[in-house]
Amino acid sequence: KRPAGAPDRELARKVTKVGVVGAGLMASQMALLFARRLEVPVVMTDLDQERLDRGVGHVHAEIDRLLGRGRLSADQANRLRALVTGSLTKDAFADADFVIEAVFEDLGVKKKVFAEVEEVVSAECVLATNTSSLPVTEMAAGLRHPERVVGFHFFNPVAVMPLLEIVRGAETDDATLATAFAVGKTLKKSSVLVKDAPAFVVNRLLTRFMGEVIGAVDEGTPIEVADHALDGLGLPMTPFTLLQLVGPAVALHVAETLHAAFPDRYGVSENLARLVAAGKPGVYAPDLSLDREATALFAGG
Ligand code: 3HC
Repeated sequence: KRPAGAPDRELARKVTKVGVVGAGLMASQMALLFARRLEVPVVMTDLDQERLDRGVGHVHAEIDRLLGRGRLSADQANRLRALVTGSLTKDAFADADFVIEAVFEDLGVKKKVFAEVEEVVSAECVLATNTSSLPVTEMAAGLRHPERVVGFHFFNPVAVMPLLEIVRGAETDDATLATAFAVGKTLKKSSVLVKDAPAFVVNRLLTRFMGEVIGAVDEGTPIEVADHALDGLGLPMTPFTLLQLVGPAVALHVAETLHAAFPDRYGVSENLARLVAAGKPGVYAPDLSLDREATALFAGG
């Protein structure tokens, strides 16, 4: 069954090579997923060799982990290692049909990335963005072919979460959207088409959910109480563990986007901002015991 709002599948273009801009954690997970499910070459790029090596290293480490768990055969693992490569220049995207960016959440940076990629790819190559909350239409503005820009928003952990938000910008054409849905299907994701609105749909709900728990702590409820109040509902993880998974900086950015768009509906927690400013990855240590320093920092305001 075709997902609601998806154009005719016949319009989808074939994808034979994928480019991933950015080699961070989420980008690395995306690169591996594309290689694994589409079985095509995937080239990652980043600003310097160190970041690129780290990104490709993440991919190789995950392949090794999957091999160790018997999820991949030795042949499949070797094939995947060969399919995912890194390049410092975007020229390596020249023959790509689908390029996705997962760089820093800044509209100007993302626009610059797309403008650079447009210099090397064909007119039909899809330019997808994994943005959590920024406007897809504005990201496409000023490009020669704004009709090939589409939102393609994954959820952490990328390999595991079935959800994929596909965002149609004002100029996105049917062939681009059909290609996005076809790729989503091959990735075995459950795609939903959402409006190009601040933080789309899912992050509005998640920001509300996490924002209310953070708000309770801001108002004086101890973290360990607020974070475990819903344990009996059987959610897969506590709100502050989810915050740690998403990354406080990303959560703060989404909250700020929503606050700017709807000041009466969404606030920005000063404590969250303080956690981000201190460069803390969350309030838990890696073994999921509360990190005393981060907790005091968060709840101390
Ligand atoms: N990478 C790859 N695989 C992972 C992984 C990761 N980071 N984390 C878990 N997995 C895999 C495990 O290997 C395991 O697979 P296997 O059985 O084939 O080996 C499987 O997932 C289940 O793992 P576990 O048994 O260790 O873990 P749980 O059963 O506790 O589930 C979870 C882990 C799926 C992460 C679960 O806790 C969950 O669903 N949490 C909620 C996550 C969520 O809501 N994400 C949305 C975040 S919002 C977002 O990303 C949007 C952005 O814009 C901010």
